[in-house]
Amino acid sequence: MLIETKGLSKYYQHKDGLVEAIKYIDLSFDQGDFITITGPSGSGKTTLLLLLAGLIRPTSGSINFQGHELNSSSDNKLAGIRSQHIGFVMQNFSLIPYLSVLYNVLLPLSLHKHADSSRNDYAVRLLDKVGLKDRMNHLPKELSAGQQQRVAIARALVNKPKLILADEPTGNLDPALSIEILEVLKQINVENKITIVMVTHSPVASGYGNLKINLVQGRIVNKVCSVVTDEFLS
Ligand SMILES: Nc1ncnc2c1ncn2[C@@H]1O[C@H](COP(=O)(O)OP(=O)(O)OP(=O)(O)O)[C@@H](O)[C@H]1O
Ligand SMILES: [Mg+2]
Repeated sequence: MLIETKGLSKYYQHKDGLVEAIKYIDLSFDQGDFITITGPSGSGKTTLLLLLAGLIRPTSGSINFQGHELNSSSDNKLAGIRSQHIGFVMQNFSLIPYLSVLYNVLLPLSLHKHADSSRNDYAVRLLDKVGLKDRMNHLPKELSAGQQQRVAIARALVNKPKLILADEPTGNLDPALSIEILEVLKQINVENKITIVMVTHSPVASGYGNLKINLVQGRIVNKVCSVVTDEFLS
């Protein structure tokens, strides 16, 4: 098991009152799962991703990530777990505009350690994997939206994560580019056994999950598990 939550709840204190964003969620994901999370705006999807990343702390309940109790870990330990094991892909790509594609991919590493040539080689290999090796010296603005999102995926992979958290990674893309991104995510899920948790509004995107979760008002109202078949993978 990669992640297990028990009675996970998150309430935000706001001056206008308490917002019960996530209510008593029990979940478990294995290495290699592809989980999709759907639900109306405000149903708690992003909050759940932030909890799984250890970026915000639960109000109650627990999250276990590979034997680490995230809720009782120090901020430093959480940052360490994130930088070692978790990659992020967000809707708006969040690339640094003045850094080349290659340096954007190297960014999660260079925050901690100096880039060396083997890291460079690895980043170039990842760019090759997402079909952008020939664009590594471009700036993000010189790429299409789908290409920028593929850079964001390469960046999420650079720390060799066990888990990728993706918040509407195809939200800004047209249908054809969305399929391109979903196929890249599926490929890394199948080939590298990286667990993917993807929030999406798109029924097509949610079809990529072997575990599909529907959230409404902070609760799981539907959970569908499907067996991965060869046909599904082809
Ligand atoms: N920092 C915060 N302080 C107070 N309330 C918050 C905060 N962040 C989120 N919320 C509230 O928590 C609820 C869940 O928000 P969340 O961002 O998780 O929803 P979401 O499902 O990701 O929505 P969307 O599809 O629009 O991105 C919402 O009612 C939101 O207003
Ligand atoms: Mg959201």
